[in-house]
Amino acid sequence: VSDDTPPQTLTERSLDAVAHLIKSGKARRVVVMTGAGISTAAGIPDFRSPETGLYANLAALDLPEPEAVFDLVFFKQNPRPFYVLAKDLYPGNFHPTVSHVFISLLAQKSLLHQLFTQNIDCLERAAGIPGHLIVEAHGSFADQRCIDCKTAYPADLMRAHVARAEVPRCVDVECGGLVKPDIVFFHEALPSLFYDRMPLAETADLVLVMGTSLQVHPFAGLPEQVPGDVPRVLFNLERVGSLGSHADDVLVLGDCDSGVRLLADALGWREELEATWRGL
Ligand code: APR
Repeated sequence: VSDDTPPQTLTERSLDAVAHLIKSGKARRVVVMTGAGISTAAGIPDFRSPETGLYANLAALDLPEPEAVFDLVFFKQNPRPFYVLAKDLYPGNFHPTVSHVFISLLAQKSLLHQLFTQNIDCLERAAGIPGHLIVEAHGSFADQRCIDCKTAYPADLMRAHVARAEVPRCVDVECGGLVKPDIVFFHEALPSLFYDRMPLAETADLVLVMGTSLQVHPFAGLPEQVPGDVPRVLFNLERVGSLGSHADDVLVLGDCDSGVRLLADALGWREELEATWRGL
């Protein structure tokens, strides 16, 4: 009698192997590294996708080059383009994706060793991932301050200015400096927490890289910190960085929500994943 279950694809077989690492208890320190690709399904454009990416759609802002919108030197000369963009990106109107929820399941099951994210949308917290397990390597919109005297700026005033795409100024009228969210701009240092937690990438026993082009350093160097014998699973539309070069790397190319659903199936977590996502 022929077994009529369709033959497993290489990816499904590999994800079965990844699921076995977790179910057998061999992998209990999972480090996750994410980028804008895990939030596109929430309606937040990523940066570099050809048609839909932010950098392809900033022409109206008349920037010297797209990245200028997140450049501190440019911001000091002309903060308006950033505040036009901030109106579209500001947290509060977006819902976590299945990929965010999968990471929160890892945390719930005490498997999440650390999440390093490049995203500024705060959807990781909204998905229920504990704050102490999140490194927001490029900061976030959670807080804002004057770039000159560093005085904090009230969240309600910020929200009002962002809603009107207006540029907020320091609450100290003597100062009158520009206010900027605690997002890491080009020419700014990453939070020290990123460097404090970086060594965790070396103690992981499984690494998931999700939705990032790995174009921006030092974050893009994180997957290179992972020892050669530790499997790294890439959930991304296309192959990026050195992923695929470790013997046990797994490339799950395509939509990341579909990829994590395949892994959830192999883990027996699919029902829980969908119910948690619906329940958010
Ligand atoms: N599923 C899987 N992959 C996706 C999806 C999706 N639904 N949508 C987009 N991607 C992939 C893209 O193909 C691309 O490889 O996610 C990646 C997104 O790359 P970028 O747009 O460059 O975003 P990111 O890697 O987060 O950018 C890093 O650049 O501008 C700076 O500070 C900014 O944090 C940002 C950093």
